[in-house]
Amino acid sequence: DTGLRAAARGTGTKIGTAVDMAALAADAPYAAAVAREFDTVTPENVMKWESVEPTQGTYNWGPADDLIRFARKNGQAVRGHTLVWHSQNPSWLTEANFTPAQLKALLRKHIFDEVGHFKGRIWAWDVANEVFNEDGTLRDTIWLRALGPSYIADAFRWAHQADPSAWLFLNDYNVDWISPKSDAYYNLIKSLRRQGVPVHGFGMQGHLGIQYGLPGDVLENVRRFDALGVKTAFTEVDIRMILPADSTKVQAQAEGFGLLLRACLLVRNCVSYTVWGFTDKYSWVPGVFPEEGSATPFDEQLQPKPAYDTLRETFLLA
Ligand code: G3I
Repeated sequence: DTGLRAAARGTGTKIGTAVDMAALAADAPYAAAVAREFDTVTPENVMKWESVEPTQGTYNWGPADDLIRFARKNGQAVRGHTLVWHSQNPSWLTEANFTPAQLKALLRKHIFDEVGHFKGRIWAWDVANEVFNEDGTLRDTIWLRALGPSYIADAFRWAHQADPSAWLFLNDYNVDWISPKSDAYYNLIKSLRRQGVPVHGFGMQGHLGIQYGLPGDVLENVRRFDALGVKTAFTEVDIRMILPADSTKVQAQAEGFGLLLRACLLVRNCVSYTVWGFTDKYSWVPGVFPEEGSATPFDEQLQPKPAYDTLRETFLLA
């Protein structure tokens, strides 16, 4: 028993991965690695609104239920991802089709239906995903336009009513360091908590690229959220590079994985560290950034890379 799961035991931080449900069904070595290496699983796509309600009023819970079953069998917690987002919404959900009042009712129903369906089986929900722009202003989305800024507080209240036992997170990318965007989250969380809105955690996705540099102030950043009294988590860590990979890049990547995990282990309440896919075989990165890849801790043959060893050693030292 020498994997990441074993190394993380007793540290107070769970190790997790995003799961590609097609791979989980078709690729037995992939499924075995998910079970062996990880304490928590996050559906990469199958809990998103377009996936669970492709036609209005017709739910498709099957793939997500499969993941819940897999997790239960393997003693894993599930991070739910994600309830309110600007992306991967169903095609029927448009401003042309509905009034603002109808959109509000639809969002409320979506949250009650989805959180209700999985009630008691989700450890933590990414309730609101990617709500800020880089400059710290609220992102212009269907929800902001129709409901105004209060859609965020409403989403958390509805989710909490639907499953009072789930931890509720805000989640975003480019917030691993101190910036106008992470400042905006800091201020939002402070203000929501002052109003009694049930926000329990801040998720830093951790999508990095070695060519952009590593977030040297990540510990300072996580610490200030920890000091607000919320849980923190790294929720989607991957560290891409310009291809081809070489040993210098792969080493820089390993340092990045270690840097984020060390920050997590050094604060009181960083509850999980999740990689956004553990193998390059199924990573989303090359599809979106054509010259880039090699972003995960296992290669395409499911062999561990230096990043894997660094994660394991960092857990073992904690
Ligand atoms: O399901 C369809 C399939 O029917 C179709 O044949 C195929 C053809 O392109 O597309 C499939 O949908 C794709 C879906 O992933 C499932 O594989 C979409 O095109 C594709 O855009 C989608 O990409 C996902 C992306 O979110 C969408 O924004 C990635 O897999 C997923 O890794 C990525 O994850 C996001 C997090 O949710 C939020 N944070 C950033 C992160 C990376 O972008």
